[in-house]
Amino acid sequence: MEQTQEKKKVIFSAIQPTGTITLGNYLGALKNWIKLQDDFNCIYALADLHAITVRQDPAKFRAHIYEAYALLLACGVDLEKSLFFIQSHVSTHAELAWVLNCYTQFGELSRMTQFKDKSAKHADNINAGLFAYPSLMAADILLYQADLVPVGADQKQHLELTRNIAERFNGIYGNVFKVPDGYIPKAGARIMSLQDSTRKMSKSDENANAYVAVLDKPEVIMKKFKRAVTDSEACVRYGEGKDGINNLMGIYSSVTGKTYDEIEKEFDGKGYGDFKTAVGEAVVEELRPIQERFNQFIKDKAYLKECYDKSADIARKISQRTLDKAMKKIGFVLK
Ligand code: TYM
Repeated sequence: MEQTQEKKKVIFSAIQPTGTITLGNYLGALKNWIKLQDDFNCIYALADLHAITVRQDPAKFRAHIYEAYALLLACGVDLEKSLFFIQSHVSTHAELAWVLNCYTQFGELSRMTQFKDKSAKHADNINAGLFAYPSLMAADILLYQADLVPVGADQKQHLELTRNIAERFNGIYGNVFKVPDGYIPKAGARIMSLQDSTRKMSKSDENANAYVAVLDKPEVIMKKFKRAVTDSEACVRYGEGKDGINNLMGIYSSVTGKTYDEIEKEFDGKGYGDFKTAVGEAVVEELRPIQERFNQFIKDKAYLKECYDKSADIARKISQRTLDKAMKKIGFVLK
């Protein structure tokens, strides 16, 4: 019998292990990571090399890497279906990043809003790594010939640059890299701070009430939602000038799958207090099983090592093929 098995498209994405993983990371990216595993060939990484563009305390950094790895397994990254490795374990990433640096323009990197934001925030440490960060991200993606990259809206500009680098390289040397597309969710692509709805929810926010961490205790989550900023209209409706409510509706929609129309009907005649409680409860229930699984995984370092070693071995083989191809085209003598 003839078997026609269509080749699955490749997904690549990564997350920095720089502390608390937030509800923004979860709804903007991780939920899609999990969902896509059945239909795609998914390759995921903890971007630890990216994380040192900002100074890290060694002990905390190490703990955050273990925590993030365990948390992503708890979210549902499944090694029967996908790869999930630690970026620094696969040296092809740093190698291709150097090569791509030589095909990325100073002007392009200077225009990156994340670079501008982070260099304003860490004015005493505007290092070359922070500047070249997007070419390492391009290397991550292009090494695996990824078709799609599930990320939140804040990574759009980096993805655009990745596409430009790939097209430029291909323009010189022929078809070396697949030019990837972003995969950005409809609801949840940009979860905002609960204290200032004009800023994105970020783990580096000094005010812990501004973000919900995936590992926050239920009572803390409820408290943070109760304190979330809204407006004086007291009507659950999506609209202009209602950034706080829009954000809560986005979170509720992303967690429950309900449309904005359905949410408006559900809370017709009810106040913001009821709505905030419902959003908090939905989030608590979504995160509860993840937190339970995390508590199991984090205890078992030997199991975590088994998982990341196995994935890194496979990732190294896949990525070496692309690195060799790119280097050969440039004219390097391969060993
Ligand atoms: P990072 O670690 O900042 O965030 C991980 C993912 O979470 C998404 N995200 C959000 N989504 C919605 N609302 C928010 N408030 C929010 N905050 C964060 C991000 O868009 C991201 O998808 N440079 C990347 C990591 C990276 C990467 C890659 C991603 C390194 N190499 C290759 C894709 C492909 C970053 O710093 O994400």
